[in-house]
Amino acid sequence: MPALVELRPVVRNDVKRLAEWLEDAEVADAWFGRYTYGDAAHLGYEPKDMVNANDDQWNEVFHDPHHEPHRDIFSIYTLSGEHIGEGQLSIDEALGDAQISVLIGKKTLWHHGYGTSSVLAMLEHIFEHLGLHRAWVDVPEYNTSARAMFGHIGFQHEGTLRQSRPHDGARHNSVIMGMLINEYAAAFPDGVQSHVTSWDAPNV
Ligand SMILES: CC(C)(COP(=O)(O)OP(=O)(O)OC[C@H]1O[C@@H](n2cnc3c(N)ncnc32)[C@H](O)[C@@H]1OP(=O)(O)O)[C@@H](O)C(=O)NCCC(=O)NCCS
Repeated sequence: MPALVELRPVVRNDVKRLAEWLEDAEVADAWFGRYTYGDAAHLGYEPKDMVNANDDQWNEVFHDPHHEPHRDIFSIYTLSGEHIGEGQLSIDEALGDAQISVLIGKKTLWHHGYGTSSVLAMLEHIFEHLGLHRAWVDVPEYNTSARAMFGHIGFQHEGTLRQSRPHDGARHNSVIMGMLINEYAAAFPDGVQSHVTSWDAPNV
C-alpha cells in the first residue's frame, strides 16, 4: 500500500484543530469519551489547555525526553499537506514495547486508508528506528472498525480486559492486540520505507 500520510511534529494550530475535532460527539465517543464535566477526553494532554500553553508547558508535553513512560506524539498529515489526525506512542523502554493510539479526527476521511497508513508509519518507527520488540493497542470491543483495521494490518489478539471501559453508562471489555518484531519483518519484508516520518525539529 503506498504511503498516504506523513507524521510531523505537533504545532499549535494542530492542537487547536484537534480540540475542534473532539467537539464532534461521534469522534469523541470513538476516542476516549467525555469527562464527567462534559469535555472530550484526550490522551497525554488537554488540547483546549494546550492551545494557550507557554513554552515550558508545551515542551513538557511534546519534547520531554525524560518523561516515563516516554510518549511520542505527532500530527498526521496527508501528503498534500492537510492535517487530519494525531498518533501517539507510549514507549516502555524497559519492556521494549510501545502502545499505539491513533485518531483520524476528520471523520469524513474515515475508511480511506489513512488510519492504516498512519499505523504502518508508526510501526516503522517502533521497529526500525527505535528497535523495540512489540507494538500493541488496547481497543474497546465495541470499536469494531479499529479492531478490524489492526487485524487487517496483522495485529494478533493477545488478551481481553474484562469490563475495562466505561461507555454509554455500561462497562465494556477491551482487547489487547499486538505485533512482534518478527511478525513485522515477515509481513513487511521490504519494510514500509515509503511511509515518511519526520520526528525531529521541535516546531513550537
Ligand atoms: C479507527 C480509525 C483510526 C480508522 O481510521 P481509518 O482511516 O478509517 O482506517 P482505514 O481507512 O485505514 O481502515 C478502516 C477500514 O476502511 C477500509 N478502507 C481502507 N481504504 C479504503 C478505501 N480506499 N475505500 C474503502 N474502504 C477502505 C479498510 O479496509 C478498513 O476496513 P475494515 O473496517 O473492514 O477494517 C478511525 O476510525 C478513528 O480515528 N477512530 C476514532 C479513534 C479510534 O478509534 N482509534 C483507534 C483506537 S487506538
